[in-house]
Amino acid sequence: MSAPGRPALLLLVGMSWAAASFACSLQIPPHQEVARVARFIAHQCDWASMATISTHKPVMGQPFSNVFSVSDGPRGSSTGVPYLYLTSMEVSVQDLQVNPQASLSMSLAQTDYCKQLGFDPQSPLCAHIILSGSVIQVNGTEADYAQKALFSRPPEMMEWPKDHDWFFAKFNITQVWVLDYFGGIKMVSPEEYFQAAPHKKQN
Ligand SMILES: *[C@@H]1O[C@H](CO)[C@@H](O)[C@H](O)[C@H]1NC(C)=O
Ligand SMILES: *[C@@H]1O[C@H](CO)[C@@H](O)[C@H](O)[C@H]1NC(C)=O
Repeated sequence: MSAPGRPALLLLVGMSWAAASFACSLQIPPHQEVARVARFIAHQCDWASMATISTHKPVMGQPFSNVFSVSDGPRGSSTGVPYLYLTSMEVSVQDLQVNPQASLSMSLAQTDYCKQLGFDPQSPLCAHIILSGSVIQVNGTEADYAQKALFSRPPEMMEWPKDHDWFFAKFNITQVWVLDYFGGIKMVSPEEYFQAAPHKKQN
């Protein structure tokens, strides 16, 4: 059976998407510029879901996904490096102390973008990224930058209990995975990701 409705439907989706994109306050880069889209998402998101390999009973050795605040820089100043504020009292951080490998997922579903355009969070149009890599502690000037990056977002962290031995860390990216359009997941190398400009250059 032929499906004459399908191209028309795709066209309609494309048209309403273009019209809605125009109306939306968040200006995402074109979906073909995958590395830029990834950088855009990493900068927009204030939190991520992080999966670790659990060291806790009864799920030892199994994936364990948990929510963390992240920032790759103060608003408008993106590095692409997700910084984290962690304590070894935290259940997932205890996993990382045994195995620092982790996966971080961020989605524009946490912004107004997908809601305004009516994109389901599971749709690739509601652009999201998955980062593979590991979590490593940062010190010195990089920790100063991480503090600036994180505390400039909702600055509540500043008041978290001092006796919890908080430290700054970064997600060291080894692979970037992007879902920003139909046709399957796209891979971006860390090099391409860090070279990409998340926002249009102002001249
Ligand atoms: C940062 O400092 C901690 C604690 O002194 C140390 O364990 C860690 O190796 C240091 N990390 C780097 C990247 O220098
Ligand atoms: C950090 O990531 C790079 C690839 O981007 C990798 O070569 C390096 O080994 C990683 N470092 C650590 C400590 O995992």
